[in-house]
Amino acid sequence: MSANTMVCGIVLHPAGHTRSPAMHNAAFRACGIDATYHAFDVPPDRLGDAITGMRGLGLRQLAVSIPHKTTVMAHLDRVDERAAAIGAVNTVTLRENKLEGANTDWIGALRALEREIDPKGRHAVVLGAGGAARAVVYGLGQAGALVSILNRTESRARELANELGAKESGPLEALADLSPDIIVNTTSVGLGSDVSPAAPEWLPAHAVVMDAVYQPENTRLLRDATQRGARALPGKWMLVHQAAEQFRLWTDTDPPLDVMAQAFDAAGRDSPS
Ligand code: ATR
Repeated sequence: MSANTMVCGIVLHPAGHTRSPAMHNAAFRACGIDATYHAFDVPPDRLGDAITGMRGLGLRQLAVSIPHKTTVMAHLDRVDERAAAIGAVNTVTLRENKLEGANTDWIGALRALEREIDPKGRHAVVLGAGGAARAVVYGLGQAGALVSILNRTESRARELANELGAKESGPLEALADLSPDIIVNTTSVGLGSDVSPAAPEWLPAHAVVMDAVYQPENTRLLRDATQRGARALPGKWMLVHQAAEQFRLWTDTDPPLDVMAQAFDAAGRDSPS
């Protein structure tokens, strides 16, 4: 590091096991960019100080994670149209002394899906109606997919469908009758435990099934999908692609995707949560 080293980071609470520093630092090294990326554990009552501190320190880039993605907006000068529609900011950039909020989660989800399928004109089912669902539904809408939102609490699915212009909403069990081309799990079901939000027989063989849960990497839902003959996409790709888009935004450099994916894997081996 030198006096000129660009300092970036992520604000989150608790700091836990984020793999973002590993991905970004590996990318900086691979591209010969003099920068470093740090995880800042910022509790909610310090968020305002942390964000306005960017201006004081001339810190140009910060990523924002749980639980700050919505509350951070109150501390910014501008929130771009897409982040405003999603209702969450995961990227703050200081430009001409203005703090600007953007969202790369939706592009991350879309790029991850595009590894297997072009969503345009396809029928996609999103399981869940929380924060993660918002970015996924928005991304699918931008790509021209027809989206159904299914959730344990049906009213939340309905509200999200109305707000983001999805085709329909319903309970999780409605998946049994839909036979979509794309299924994305955004519920927390399967996180750290071997359960699935969908019965195996609800997963059509022609579908691409992606799980936003990335711990464990090969969730019950993904294993069921593979067994049914469907294509399974681990949630790790959503995280790698969203980080890659942040890297692009901040450095104007094409992100080294393989390097970032390898760093993501290595960080998981170093500190499995
Ligand atoms: P996030 O921001 O990670 O999406 P969230 O806003 O708390 O977190 O949303 C969690 C999602 O997982 C919701 O869709 C939730 O369903 P409800 O709206 O019915 O609460 C879903 N979820 C959590 N636990 C679940 C469970 N055991 N079975 C089915 N869905 C579950």
